[in-house]
Amino acid sequence: MSQRVKIKQILLSDSVNYEVTVKGWVRTFRNNQFIALNDGSTNNNLQVVVNEADTDPAVFRRITRGAAISVTGQIVPSLGAGQKVELKTATLEILGDCDAEVFPIQPKKQSLEFMREIAHLRFRTNTFGAVFRLRHALAFAVHKFFNDKGFVYLHTPIITASDAEGAGEMFRVSTLDPKNPPLNENGDIDYKEDFFGRATNLTVSGQLEGELGAMAFGDIYTFGPTFRAENSNTARHLAEFWMIEPEMAFYELKDNMDLAEEFIKYVIRYTLDNNREDLDFLAQRLAEEEKQKPQAERSPMGLIEKLEFVLNNEFTRITYTEAIEILKNSKPNKNKKFQFPVDEWGTDLQSEHERYLVEKHFQKPVILTDYPAAIKSFYMKQNDDGKTVRAMDILFPGIGEIVGGSQREENYDKLVRRMNELKIPVEELYWYLDTRRFGTAPHAGFGLGFERLVLFVTGMTNIRDVIPFPRTPKNAEF
Ligand code: 4AD
Ligand code: MG
Repeated sequence: MSQRVKIKQILLSDSVNYEVTVKGWVRTFRNNQFIALNDGSTNNNLQVVVNEADTDPAVFRRITRGAAISVTGQIVPSLGAGQKVELKTATLEILGDCDAEVFPIQPKKQSLEFMREIAHLRFRTNTFGAVFRLRHALAFAVHKFFNDKGFVYLHTPIITASDAEGAGEMFRVSTLDPKNPPLNENGDIDYKEDFFGRATNLTVSGQLEGELGAMAFGDIYTFGPTFRAENSNTARHLAEFWMIEPEMAFYELKDNMDLAEEFIKYVIRYTLDNNREDLDFLAQRLAEEEKQKPQAERSPMGLIEKLEFVLNNEFTRITYTEAIEILKNSKPNKNKKFQFPVDEWGTDLQSEHERYLVEKHFQKPVILTDYPAAIKSFYMKQNDDGKTVRAMDILFPGIGEIVGGSQREENYDKLVRRMNELKIPVEELYWYLDTRRFGTAPHAGFGLGFERLVLFVTGMTNIRDVIPFPRTPKNAEF
């Protein structure tokens, strides 16, 4: 038997008249003669030509939509329009049958909502094939970007005893018997008896441990799963999502912004250069979706244009205070169109405000800096004004916040004072504070939500469609 070749490789090559073996799943079987075979290497199917007269009838019957088959034969020029080459079958073997009548993937348009219910099979569609190959490409590009810059990939723990963001949105990790947990004198659950001898949870961010790495290697990044038990059932939130968190010693806020912008542009360019076929497919898909919408709601740009636009324009950089002024004087605010009116300095921005800034006012990505300390985490570097911190959020059209980061407070006394104000346990975080005792230095970092990036690049609109098996409130299927 000849060597198995991936379909992508066959379709990319101009050679003909050579023997191959291909293995994949039948997408369609037409006229008892033409199999559209897909092996996941590309959305493009290989046309496999079978001759009924030459095929064992018992095998022939089993060539059905969804079945896994192995075919050996000659790659020859195709007579039909639509493909340059096709595979002329010499031998065909059924590897796995599929009853096309009950196979949930049907040869018609099926909704994304329905696809979520059959997420275990949805990879076998063109849309999800393209989305998840792009997700892979973006992950690879993330590692390539940081590796080429000499960053160390640091694996921060998934089980931790600290709440990095101090927001209390953690999933408890425990092996105690929920029916009969040990209690202490106060009648509370005694976590001293628990597996780790203390209360633990799934990490919400690898940042605090990342900072420890940065204070030795200079530049590190993490790229791993993070967990948030926030009850936000939106198209932008997951309970389990992947985050990329670079952390750099000797960086100030401006260096941090420059790196974040360069990084995002690099990974987008990587997909435009290397994954054009899948992007073009999704651009087409999006264009068809847009046609269903009323004229006024249609996006002025197609997917590829939108990606190129981000590459070719500098992100706007403004302070929170400037943003509040713009929002206060904006039409929707004056006409009371915002659900949350903007009237005073200090309030947190809602997604409607973020979207107004990027989609209406600036019409491009925006980096907002220097937020009020009261609405940001304890570790951010305090500005001299006593009110704001060296925070930065990057807002993207159609996405909202894609990056959150800051310069870190490197001064031991200021950091401890802030932790005390916020009642963050100073003793428990002694290891974090030690970096400020032993050779502290200015440093900064950010976190990019990987699924939000995948959303932007693929033009999908629900975050559940860009992670293989989404975890959201009341849903942990598969
Ligand atoms: O803004 P966040 O909470 O920042 C941090 O966790 C910092 N420790 C990062 C750092 O400075 N190293 O989260 C960072 C990003 C957000 O901008 C967003 O893109 C994403 O993570 N994110 C989520 N993505 C999906 N679902 C959720 N529930 C998310 N929460 C945050
Ligand atoms: Mg944030």
